[in-house]
Amino acid sequence: MSALAAISNLAVAYRNAALPALSDVSLEIEAGEILAVIGESGSGKSTFARALIGLLPQRTAISGRIDWPGLDGAPRAGRDIGCVFQDPGSSLNPVLRIGEQVGEGARRHLGLGRRAADAEAVRLIGRVRLPEPERIARAFPHQLSGGQRQRVAIAAAIAARPRLLVADEVTSALDVVVQAAIVDLLVELVRADGMTLVFVTHDLALASGIADRIAVMAAGRLVELGPAAELVAAPKTAATAALVAAHIDLATPPLVGDAP
Ligand SMILES: Nc1ncnc2c1ncn2[C@@H]1O[C@H](COP(=O)(O)OP(=O)(O)O)[C@@H](O)[C@H]1O
Ligand SMILES: [Mg+2]
Repeated sequence: MSALAAISNLAVAYRNAALPALSDVSLEIEAGEILAVIGESGSGKSTFARALIGLLPQRTAISGRIDWPGLDGAPRAGRDIGCVFQDPGSSLNPVLRIGEQVGEGARRHLGLGRRAADAEAVRLIGRVRLPEPERIARAFPHQLSGGQRQRVAIAAAIAARPRLLVADEVTSALDVVVQAAIVDLLVELVRADGMTLVFVTHDLALASGIADRIAVMAAGRLVELGPAAELVAAPKTAATAALVAAHIDLATPPLVGDAP
């Protein structure tokens, strides 16, 4: 496999923060892989995702390097990298029709005209398996459920046919059944288009179900990185072992209690 991105000694300190949010993070992201980034809340996952996308706030101190051997040149957010976040409401404009928002990336980055972009939006809405794509294209965000809005956000994120999709806690606000469907959809899209996926989550069960490799963050550091199955079966660090133990506790039925 070849590297899409090579990250070396990446460190990030937010303005006025007592401690760095990221310290000495080095890894390669392989082209076509699903890399899950897991860790407790505050461990630096979103900071890592934002650094990759190039979306850190101004006046954040950044050192180290991110090289993109798999791209020709520096990535353009929205074009080479698509992003989806926890709250699709934050990325969708409440007063614009869904179709317009989904077609935006194709208009801006692929040079499609208005009619072609509208048709492309309907195609993308169908691709994220929303029913009646024409009707959804004419709807506004508030007319959809949370899970449907997240599908729309995914459609918008892939509109410019990015090489990399960065998904940060995209299922955390959704109920479990919808979570599973959204994760299935992401995997299907990524595999079909040969995209690379960086899947950020605090949920090890979710991560291990889909990832080729898992990166474990703790206190701003990358503490473990390996093939998903190996890492879960034989954690090498206390941080990973703690995440695995928490997951086992949740998955194990209670000894005493009502049958479901
Ligand atoms: N915009 C910000 N300004 C200052 N500190 C921040 C900001 N965003 C995150 N942090 C801090 O950086 C650390 C890492 O946060 P984050 O990357 O959001 O972790 P995670 O996504 O794993 O929960 C935390 O201590 C958090 O409080
Ligand atoms: Mg986060």
